[in-house]
This record gives sequence, structure tokens and C-alpha cells, in this order.
Amino acid sequence: MDNSLLITGASQLLTLHGNTPRRGKVLSQLGIIEDGALLIHEGQIAAVGPTAKVEKLAAARKAEKVDVGGRVVLPGFVDSHTHLIHATSRAEEYELKIQGASYEEIARKGGGILNSVQKLRAATGQLLKQRARAALEVFAAHGTTTVEAKSGYGLDVASELKILSLHKELGVQQPIEIVSTFLGAHVVPLEFRGKANGPEEYVKLLTGWLIPEVAANGLAEFCDVFCDRGAFSRAQAKQVLAAGVRYKLRPRLHAEQLTRTGAARLAVELQAASCDHLEQVIASDIRALAKSNTVASLLPGCDFHLGLHQYAPARKLIDAGAIVALATDYNPGTSPTTSMPMILSLACTQLRMTPAEAIVAATYNAAYSLGRQKRLGSLEVGKQADLAVFEVEDYREIPYYFGVNTCWLTMKSGNVIYAAV
Ligand code: NIG
Ligand code: FE
Repeated sequence: MDNSLLITGASQLLTLHGNTPRRGKVLSQLGIIEDGALLIHEGQIAAVGPTAKVEKLAAARKAEKVDVGGRVVLPGFVDSHTHLIHATSRAEEYELKIQGASYEEIARKGGGILNSVQKLRAATGQLLKQRARAALEVFAAHGTTTVEAKSGYGLDVASELKILSLHKELGVQQPIEIVSTFLGAHVVPLEFRGKANGPEEYVKLLTGWLIPEVAANGLAEFCDVFCDRGAFSRAQAKQVLAAGVRYKLRPRLHAEQLTRTGAARLAVELQAASCDHLEQVIASDIRALAKSNTVASLLPGCDFHLGLHQYAPARKLIDAGAIVALATDYNPGTSPTTSMPMILSLACTQLRMTPAEAIVAATYNAAYSLGRQKRLGSLEVGKQADLAVFEVEDYREIPYYFGVNTCWLTMKSGNVIYAAV
């Protein structure tokens, strides 16, 4: 064998070819090849086209063969927003929310993010890693091949560095690619609260000590801030992200989730890679995002899980020309899901995105937000062979069947990382 693999018989092969971030009408261009095939060599895509054509190539004859029997093949999902490392679920808060307590009320009483911080600080690295590894297997089982992971449940030097080191270890010990983001500015930790300038002191710890330490040890590519009521102000977010930029950590931002703070405008101003959530954006924010290269990453799993009715204005963002991505926001407080297909279902029914738009948002545009669009996010010659095969004949059936998993096979760099049977 010469380390080549020939995949044939895709009822639809979604190539997503094209090399710019997808805005407006282009967001729905899937580049479909019917009865499609892919030739993979050394983990990279060597040929793409109709089965009849690709299987005639000299290199294809020597390759190992996989017939996907009329199923749909698409690029592996790129999940550009997760809080991968946490110690436990918060199922007890889920029940309280169903009974009427709001996310912010629970947080004010010391629940919410602080609850997860307390649990994480008490947990061993081994337990945290085991939980994350199990979650990553479920990500793979739903067609995801790359996961961004944020710290932010440690909020002290040792615990934040522990989380980021686990990202690094997991990146080499299991097949899903992990993109590490430093989110020391998730909320102000308990030990800095109740003092007159506690929050300022915590921001100083982040900008003067943790960010330089994270950068010096190569523990993150991005720096994120939760900018909202009860978390960090726009001015604090600017301080933290600017410090990140000085150390070559690109900004991302939790923006306009619970209240409108002006964080989306800040993201545009700082040329952030992404600004995420956006439920509360106003018309001028949408215009600013549309003119920028900052990706508008939408996380409908949060609104669904919290039972909120105001989803982000996806249609307005798309029609204005913003670069829209979708992610799970896998986390124990607002979106405990590892299923990108479920996010696609929510994007279709709640955000009114078409199935094609949702797929491009969860692959190519998400890869763009992580600076990996040259290597990931589409099935084109020269790209990494990261792909998912779904047990459907038509790509629209991926979001159409909700709450069930139709993923049949997932491959990372040409290696099978999940097979349904
Ligand atoms: O993306 N909004 C802030 N961070 C998470 C929630 C974290 C939590 O509640 O544990 C989010 O929704
Ligand atoms: Fe988040």
C-alpha cells in the first residue's frame, strides 16, 4: 500500500471549494459533486471529482478503497467555540432554570461559572483529561474533526495553566485537533470580589502575569474575554485583549449575549478573529461586522438550553454581508452539547439559516475564524483529508433529522476516527 485511500460513491460530495470567507449569497455554495469521489494521499486530498473520473486515475488504482454507498460526504465540522475542560455537569442548575431562576440570578448566588471554577480547582488533571477525552470521542462521533477549546474555569494562575497544558496534551494524545484559547477573563474569581479594586487587580494579574506566561509557554493562540453584565466591562475587555495582542494572542470575544455592551464594536475595532453569541446586537453592530473580517460566530445551543427566545439575528447578519459561523459552545452552564448536527438543526429552525448556509458556517467559515482555512474547512486538492460521512442521501437531511445522530464515519487526516459500525 502506498498510503492512499480512494473514497467513492458519495451521493453528494460537498466540496465547499473557494478560498475566501463566505458572505451573503456565497454562504450557501456547497460545490456539490454528485456520485463523488476523493483520493487521499498521505492524509491530504490528492483528487476530487465524479467517481467515474477519479477511479480511473493511475494513483487511484493502487489505493485502498472505501465505497460510501450513496451517503453524503462533507468537510469535518470545525467547532470554533467550546469550553472543553470542566469537571462536572451543572444539571442541578438546569433544573433550577426550568423552575424559573435565570442564568444571571444563579450566577449572582455563586452558582454558574463560579460553581464550575470551584469544581475544577478541586479536580485532578487526570479526571479533567478523562472527561475531555470522552467528550472528544463524542465530538468525533458527530462529524467534528477540529475543536477550539477555552480555559476559563480555573481563574487562578495554577488552574488556568493546568487547563491550557491539558489542551496541549490532548492535542497530541488523541486525533481531534485542539485550538487553544486563553479565557482567564471569564468572570472575576471569588477571591477578588468584595474588595474595592478587586476586579482591577484581577485584570492586572491577567495582563501583567498570566498573558505573558501563557504566551511564553506557547499555551494558546487566542485570547478571549466574556464581556457582559456580571463579567467584564468593555474597557476591561479592551485592556485584556490589547495585552493579548502584545503577546501575539489574537482576540476573540464573548459579545452581546445577555446585554448589549458594545463588545461587538470592540471586536471589530481590535480586528478580532471572532465575536461570539450576538443575541443582543443592534443595527449599527451588524453594519460594522458586515464591513469587517471579524467572524460573527452564532451559538444557538445556548438559547435553546437556557430556554431563551431571542436568538441572534442570523438572517440580518448574513444579508448584511457578515461572515457567519456556527459553533456548539460546549460548556456545562449554557450549552452542554457536543453535537454539531443538533446546532445545524437549531440554526435552520431558529436562526432561519438554510441547511447549506449552516453547513458552510460550521466548516469553512469556522475554520477561517481559527485561521485554518488554507488547510481545513473544504474538500479540495492539497487540503487536509478531514471529513465526515453521513447516513443520508441529501445533505438537507443532516439538520432535518434532529436529536438523532446520522454520522456514519469521521476521518482526520485520512485516518478513521469514528465509524458507526
Ligand atoms: O459561552 N458566556 C460565558 N461563557 C459560557 C458560559 C459559561 C458557563 O455558564 O459556565 C458561554 O455561554
Ligand atoms: Fe462560551
